[in-house]
Amino acid sequence: MKHVVLLASGSGSNAENIIRYFREKNLPVQFHIISNKADAFVLERAKRLNVPAEVITKKQNNDNVLQKRMQELKPDLIVLAGYLLLFPAAVINDYLNKIINIHPALLPKYGGKGMYGGFVHQAIVDNKETETGITIHYVSDKYDEGAIIFQAKTTVNPTDNPEDVAQKVHLLEYEHFPKVIEELLFNV
Ligand code: GRF
Repeated sequence: MKHVVLLASGSGSNAENIIRYFREKNLPVQFHIISNKADAFVLERAKRLNVPAEVITKKQNNDNVLQKRMQELKPDLIVLAGYLLLFPAAVINDYLNKIINIHPALLPKYGGKGMYGGFVHQAIVDNKETETGITIHYVSDKYDEGAIIFQAKTTVNPTDNPEDVAQKVHLLEYEHFPKVIEELLFNV
């Protein structure tokens, strides 16, 4: 049985998509969800999916609560799926190359502090980019700078608004993120 801890700060559609993927393929993976926001919709999704979930706030991170929980949970893989806090260096050191993140753009462009969600897609449109995509990478102690594992692209049309871009990017995330996780867990 593999153990995966999913971290999300908001809606959690990627987290749900990942969990459903492994359940539909009947793969031996157990999930645990952690959010830093008590009102994050990902917690509602966890309840509906019957997946254990908990809140560890930014302040608790500073008190090494996240590190202690990871030492208890002993995940094979830690997956950031829309987690907006900088990951504590202590946990990164405990889990070198076992923490991955998905970013809704083609890093190294459009990454770094403050570049998340709608801000990324707005910048893509403002800069009249003709393509965008997703990047799945290992987590380092700086936002969006770890080694890249996977990227996928989609076109951006001149008539696309940020919501159109977000929709195209989400489709890439839902298609590829679970498969990349499966490869990392089972070396397929
Ligand atoms: C995704 O677009 C992901 O690329 C980014 O945060 C967003 C999370 O969306 N890191 P959701 O919470 O999975 O719906």
